Amino acid sequence: MSDPSADADILSPPSERVDIPATSSTLALAADVVFSEKKEAEERAAGLLDSRPSGASSEDRRSSTQPSQSALSEAMLAHVPKHSSSTGGLVLDLNLGYEGTVQRKSDARFFAKFRDRFLSLRGSILYMYDAEGAPAHEACIQVDNRIQVVGPTSHKSGFFAFTVSGPAPATGDTGTTGNFTWKLRTAGSASGEKWLKALSVVGAVVTPPEYAASDEERADYKKRLEEYSSMVQDGTVHGHVIPPLRTDGPAVSTAHDEVDVAHGTSVSGDSTGKLTYKVQVFTGNFGQYKIHTSFADLGRHEPASPKDDEDIFITLHGAQGVGLKKVRFPKTKKSFHEGQEDTFKLDGDVVGELYGLTLEKSKPGHTWYVDRIVVSAEDSANVMHKWVFPVYSWIDMIKYVLEGSARLPQQLTVAAERNERSAALEHKRKAYRVHKETEAGIPPRVDSGYADLPINEQWPKDKGVDFQHDRNTLVGNTLLSKVSTMMNKWDTFDDFDKLFVKIPLPSVKKTWHTDEQFGKNRTQMSSVANLRAVPVDGTLPELFGVTDADVEGQLPAGATLASEAAARRLFYLEFPYLADLPTQEGRYSCSPFCLLRVRAESDSALIPLAIQLHRRPRDDSTNPIFTAADPGPDWLLAKSVVNHADMWQFQMNSHLLYTHLGMEAVVVVTHRRLSEAHPIFKLLKPFTKYHLGINSVGRLGLLGSGGLIEQVASFTVNGFIAIIARGYDEWTFADAAPPKMLADRGFDDPDVRAAIPDYYYANDSLELWKIVREYVQDIVKLYYSSDKDVADDTELQSWAAELHESYEHTKDGRPRFPASFATIDEVVETVAIFCFAVSVQHGVLNFAQYDTFGYIPNSPGSLMSPVPGHDETPVEKGKMSKLEDIMAWMPNKSISAFQVGNHYLLAQYTDADQFLGTFGEQVFVESTALGAQKRFKDACDAFEEKVKARGAWDHSLPSKIPMSTAI
Ligand SMILES: [Fe+2]
Repeated sequence: MSDPSADADILSPPSERVDIPATSSTLALAADVVFSEKKEAEERAAGLLDSRPSGASSEDRRSSTQPSQSALSEAMLAHVPKHSSSTGGLVLDLNLGYEGTVQRKSDARFFAKFRDRFLSLRGSILYMYDAEGAPAHEACIQVDNRIQVVGPTSHKSGFFAFTVSGPAPATGDTGTTGNFTWKLRTAGSASGEKWLKALSVVGAVVTPPEYAASDEERADYKKRLEEYSSMVQDGTVHGHVIPPLRTDGPAVSTAHDEVDVAHGTSVSGDSTGKLTYKVQVFTGNFGQYKIHTSFADLGRHEPASPKDDEDIFITLHGAQGVGLKKVRFPKTKKSFHEGQEDTFKLDGDVVGELYGLTLEKSKPGHTWYVDRIVVSAEDSANVMHKWVFPVYSWIDMIKYVLEGSARLPQQLTVAAERNERSAALEHKRKAYRVHKETEAGIPPRVDSGYADLPINEQWPKDKGVDFQHDRNTLVGNTLLSKVSTMMNKWDTFDDFDKLFVKIPLPSVKKTWHTDEQFGKNRTQMSSVANLRAVPVDGTLPELFGVTDADVEGQLPAGATLASEAAARRLFYLEFPYLADLPTQEGRYSCSPFCLLRVRAESDSALIPLAIQLHRRPRDDSTNPIFTAADPGPDWLLAKSVVNHADMWQFQMNSHLLYTHLGMEAVVVVTHRRLSEAHPIFKLLKPFTKYHLGINSVGRLGLLGSGGLIEQVASFTVNGFIAIIARGYDEWTFADAAPPKMLADRGFDDPDVRAAIPDYYYANDSLELWKIVREYVQDIVKLYYSSDKDVADDTELQSWAAELHESYEHTKDGRPRFPASFATIDEVVETVAIFCFAVSVQHGVLNFAQYDTFGYIPNSPGSLMSPVPGHDETPVEKGKMSKLEDIMAWMPNKSISAFQVGNHYLLAQYTDADQFLGTFGEQVFVESTALGAQKRFKDACDAFEEKVKARGAWDHSLPSKIPMSTAI
């Protein structure tokens, strides 16, 4: 047995675990290759792996030790279904390393017949068993990016078991097994040696339910999924279940092409300089892609295919010229259907390595969504070359696509490639423009309304979020179906229940009036980003005049505010951006203070101690301190006033400014300055999905005059825009880094975080920040080996420069965005801030909205009576005698309906969401980058398990955090 280290380059380390994404049917399930170095050593010792060094010839490998059948898991075999191979078949379509085809000898048409039942699965070395559970053939086959399996007709659910076995086949190997013959061809490239990397794969492939002919079959598919899930969970098989996140979700690109392109290698043609290019076109699948919520189904299927009567052309650009020049695809009416792969063989010229292609349609006005295009060619030296072009775009007329390997601009050696990359960027700059909002004092934005956004920023037609439509549907047809007089006030708190005709009543209904729930609003709900720790010296905001006398009897014996602050048990709220804002007629607001304490002597609950309603000096006549000792409902009213302020601080700043609007310019400028082949573009892309779309829709439907927020808020449009502007006055991009955000509110001290155990948000933010930042660093360091690489990257530097210029300066003159980058770490930090803000920070805050603000008494969006002490009028405590007396401040029926509907709408996931660590569009093609993505997913999964295990604060579950801000 050789030195294991000799295999290091071909034995994939854990960091290169291969991901097997879910298929387009989210009911589908895939198996993951899970292995570790330890496992590798064990298996190698057991003779499962060829132990020869990677440099061994294929002949050597063929003669190496064969794995014994006994070494294969009996448990695996036990689960191999019995089926007749005479009715079944297998097609392996292998592109990297080895290419093999196993065909049913007697009926070649068999495969065409079942081609539409193909399933995709990424794996590694696979071994297929026949009907009796014996190996179907002796060769083990490298499957790098796709294995397409056709199940026997009697088993359309196609439950197969695979495991690793045997040596790699060599070029020209042929054989016959049962009814199958097979022939293997090999590219002989270095990457072909990767066949050794997997140890075991057991996979269940389940036909998407749309192929089911009957309910019975659908039930069978579901059953098989469950069977496989339990096998994985109980350890019977070595695999990993990727759970369906949504049962009717968007199309997910299943076959992630992984290719390590060796640029500069020669591509040799025949004596005439000709080459046959195999072009595989993968059309996107939006058939299952519907945006719908429980209140409105907006999904109307828009085909992603081109029209039957239009022609499609392709041009291939190579280092030495044009390989195919506007060649028409010989398509038929069956070509380019949704979710379909179409393969064409096109004769062209040898032009060396391909770096770009142009797709062209003959007719405008009907868009076509293309996932990716794979071009391969076997040259005269029998060397297989392959180029992957990630498209992931709607195509109206023409689309130029760069080859998928990520490259910095300074790495380009072909002048034509440089020129075409520049031209593509120039084109993008015309489509994506920045509009500075200097006058309004709010963040720069995309310079167009929703309808004028580039097509790829818009949801598929009629599948987007339409606030106007949703609002009318929700408010007009459901919530208010039993409310006849919109402008009337409610009579009792129970009347609010009438709003919840078709949507769930938030659980805070039972607890909203308690001090414990008031605390939970800050530790467990959406308002987590507003809580502040009182400094160790007890310093409070200057205008907050609470004293020990005010809280007498509320602290343990002998304790004072100073001693409690020193023990880090005091917290507070303040809302400086809400002071003195214009309000709508008959609606009121104020900027209160609130002091809270962790009840350390009992249950660690966060309890409010004292509230001052106005941001002006304390005055016992017009601006007194309220406490729980106050009579009747005075204390409850004071808490409601704080909740009102807290809701708008959350909505305008924590949510809209810091995750939506403040991040928008990065999306725009990324398209303007970074080529789609730039690694930072590829890194950022999944984090930008529909960001411009939701912000553009939101500007009109939420923030505009007559929009949802004006319907709900106490403030005028100018009032709530001023909350954003005041926040933006002081904000810099670096402030959005979680350590900085937490430090700004006093939570950088671990003792403070430990003192408030229910505040999981703080530690979870730091842990998720670490996960996101490490992923960003992982990717960045793949492409930048030194700070000089950063300095020399003209695209990246122009990205920084334009963002620096667009974001302008804070009110006190600090730049909001760096003007340039000098180091790798600066790039990592800045990119990670964006990725975190639009995924974790947004997701954690956004989707708890309904629970927090959906029940009006817990967070009234408008205050309908003057706040006590308004206009410095005397405050008379004890005038109210019963709880219902504070109904005078509660929103009327109309406002209530809009508030509930608004927060219900905003807290909905859309079917377009991809969740943290999950990549539906595979814009990276290098195995190194895919390995980084796998590590990211693994880290997210590990964190997910940790959060689930503790059973509290599940808003930070990665499976609940969309990768982008899209709602
Ligand atoms: Fe949002």
